[in-house]
Amino acid sequence: MTLTQTMLAAVETELQKQVARLDDPRTKQYHDMLTYHMGWSGAGAGPEASGKRVRPLLVLLSSASSGGDWEAALPAAAAVELVHNFSLVHDDIQDNSDKRRNRATVWKKWGMPQGINAGDGLFVLSNLAITDLISAHPAETVVRAAQILHTTCLELTRGQFLDMSYQTQIDLGVQDYWPMISGKTAALLAGCCSLGALLADTDDDTIEAYRSFGHYLGLAFQVQDDILGIWGDEAQTGKSAASDLMEGKNSLPVLFGLQKKGAFAKRWAEGPIRAEEVEGLAKLLAAESAYGSAQDAARQMTDLALTSLRQANPQGDAGQSLTDLANMLLSRKQ
Ligand code: IPE
Ligand code: IPE
Ligand code: MG
Ligand code: MG
Repeated sequence: MTLTQTMLAAVETELQKQVARLDDPRTKQYHDMLTYHMGWSGAGAGPEASGKRVRPLLVLLSSASSGGDWEAALPAAAAVELVHNFSLVHDDIQDNSDKRRNRATVWKKWGMPQGINAGDGLFVLSNLAITDLISAHPAETVVRAAQILHTTCLELTRGQFLDMSYQTQIDLGVQDYWPMISGKTAALLAGCCSLGALLADTDDDTIEAYRSFGHYLGLAFQVQDDILGIWGDEAQTGKSAASDLMEGKNSLPVLFGLQKKGAFAKRWAEGPIRAEEVEGLAKLLAAESAYGSAQDAARQMTDLALTSLRQANPQGDAGQSLTDLANMLLSRKQ
């Protein structure tokens, strides 16, 4: 097994341990909702239904490459993945999405009120998971880790606020995009890398370099998600390719399209996109060079991420894996 595979297996075990806090026969269906969403139970369960687990991997690789014992960082790795999954369960309600990782979303299966509660449960589990660091780290470090996790969550909700409020705003430009994704996506990836370095007991400059790596990686990651949200293959992304345009999401390709003030911008201004228009509109957007511009932006952000990573001076196999991961995420199809 490679280092990454060993880490991923350990993450799964730690996550199962954390989610088991809600394993109680009196509320079995509640626990079922969580294990379903995590990809461990129900129709279609398996690695595909669990997602990529990028965020815990970032914690562990950042920790190992800055000289830490990655196994001692496992509770933090579980905590960030629980945060991510709480945000997905709520995001699918907020975005009216009925498919996630090729399966029905939690709210589609159990209804919106239960979906909100299941997301809340995952959020609280993340807060408990981070406190488990106490078994291998001094209390001061655990408090700092909890601060990183919680400020990250605040940033995430600020980003989600902007994302949703942009849906009804006109006259948005590319410059409005970066603060939005910086919150909803990059904050968590930045938090993951800071946490890893913090738990390795490195100095503040190194923690900052890792944080910056995660931040730019997160920006690149969301740009790629936006590209896949319009031109991706549904079977690979596991999400609907029509929903971003139909939901009126001001994703980066859309903002590039609006900047052109061409046929796409004209149609977008006329109101909601219907299902039968999505395919043609995606073609139009690509013809007006939004696809290429978005790809360029993702490359630029990845380059900035790699510059910060070099400043962090990561060591060993874990350091190489971080570089590989950054390049791989740029060309991801899922
Ligand atoms: C999806 O994240 C949401 C974004 C922030 C773009 P991922 O693509 O990491 O989702 P999973 O966990 O692998 O399904
Ligand atoms: C990703 O939101 C960020 C969070 C869930 C906090 P998106 O709405 O862009 O991601 P997908 O495409 O649904 O995964
Ligand atoms: Mg969203
Ligand atoms: Mg969404």
